[in-house]
Amino acid sequence: MPPGYPEHTNATRLYGPQITGDTNELYTRIRQEHGPVAPVLLDGDIPAWFVLGYREIQHVTSNSQLFARDCRRWNLWDHIPSDWPLLPYVGWTPSVMFAEGEEHRRRAGALGDALDALDRAELVTICNEIAEELVETFAEDGTAELISQYAHQIPAYVVARIFGLPKSDIPQLVRDVLDSLDTAEGAAAAHQRVHDRLHQLVADRQQRRRRDVPSRLLDHPAGLTFDEIVIDLLVVMAAAQAPTGNWIGNTLRLMFTDDTFSTTVQGGRSSATEALNEVLWKQTPTQNFIGRWATQRCELAGRRIQAGDLLVLGFAAANTDPQVQPGQPTGSGENRAQMSFGGGEHGCPFPAPELARIIATSAIEVLLDHLPDVELSVAEDELEWRPSVWMRGLFELPVQFTPAPPTT
Ligand code: HEM
Repeated sequence: MPPGYPEHTNATRLYGPQITGDTNELYTRIRQEHGPVAPVLLDGDIPAWFVLGYREIQHVTSNSQLFARDCRRWNLWDHIPSDWPLLPYVGWTPSVMFAEGEEHRRRAGALGDALDALDRAELVTICNEIAEELVETFAEDGTAELISQYAHQIPAYVVARIFGLPKSDIPQLVRDVLDSLDTAEGAAAAHQRVHDRLHQLVADRQQRRRRDVPSRLLDHPAGLTFDEIVIDLLVVMAAAQAPTGNWIGNTLRLMFTDDTFSTTVQGGRSSATEALNEVLWKQTPTQNFIGRWATQRCELAGRRIQAGDLLVLGFAAANTDPQVQPGQPTGSGENRAQMSFGGGEHGCPFPAPELARIIATSAIEVLLDHLPDVELSVAEDELEWRPSVWMRGLFELPVQFTPAPPTT
């Protein structure tokens, strides 16, 4: 154990087999044992603080003077090997993600404005079109694997369209985006190709503006540089893809397996909205997030936090904090006070949560409209969660349905 972490001798490991099972149960156990701020060990037994309390997360995210985002503050860099598996999440890049203060406001504000300029009705049309095209690729088969063939493709397709990429370039870009976020070999090369394609896109828009996100960023009064735009477009692509893809996948799983939702699955519109909301409370896609770094010595829920300590934000745990929902069997309904989009300056920026909801709603409605008798083709307990402490999502969601007649 690195020196300076006396409270971590009995810390819970936040990696390994326990995070593939029922993580909500794990969080309940950690909360019972340690309270709302717990000592945990990340991969390789690297110590960190796990913030599980709803109020404590609110306090941390809204207090950016004390809990800041620039990872270069970390007091454990000397202990982190160059092949540490979590480096992609904490390795510093000159992007909006790690910017702070005025610099962050300038860049996040420009991103928010560029995204907010999207016509919502046009976005719905784009989402429906993409979802329909994807359904068509498997509708005649009578079976599909909805995570790889559908849920994870949709957000990347939508973002590529709102970035203004020509339709012919999008399938390759989507393949690269998915590969770049994978842990498999080839991820770095795929990431480089995505970077290069976005670099070229911004260069094209410098010559000639269009009605798209890169053009709006170039024209924004914040005066972003070329490199800032490229890297922040990359961040948006990555930030949208996995969470929204898993939101779609987790919601479909819930609709296929939970009677409360499955009874209305065929006519699915109102139940899709409810299921999407329920998932944000119970199986939220970004279940934990790295994080914030303490700028100075302080106390949090009785814990002594040192300057440079890493705090992992436990959004899923906060959503099931008994202090917030005492004895409530279901936390969803119309209640949208969940923590699933983070909070404060570095929370998922307006209007991204609204755009994600449009994308996810359309994905579910189009699927149910086109394949009204779609159902799981395996038993519920055969569905496997990916062993990621950050993302809550399934490996596969195999389904069956009446095949559509062949198109002539
Ligand atoms: C169109 C889809 C989305 C876009 C464009 C998007 C974009 C972003 C961006 C740019 C950030 C970094 C903000 C910053 O550091 O200032 C971010 C953070 C975040 N996003 Fe999203 N996002 C999307 C969907 C989602 C979804 C579906 C979820 C989960 C349900 C989600 C959860 C989060 C969380 C938890 C953070 C970190 C919040 C924090 O640190 O407090 N996002 N998102």
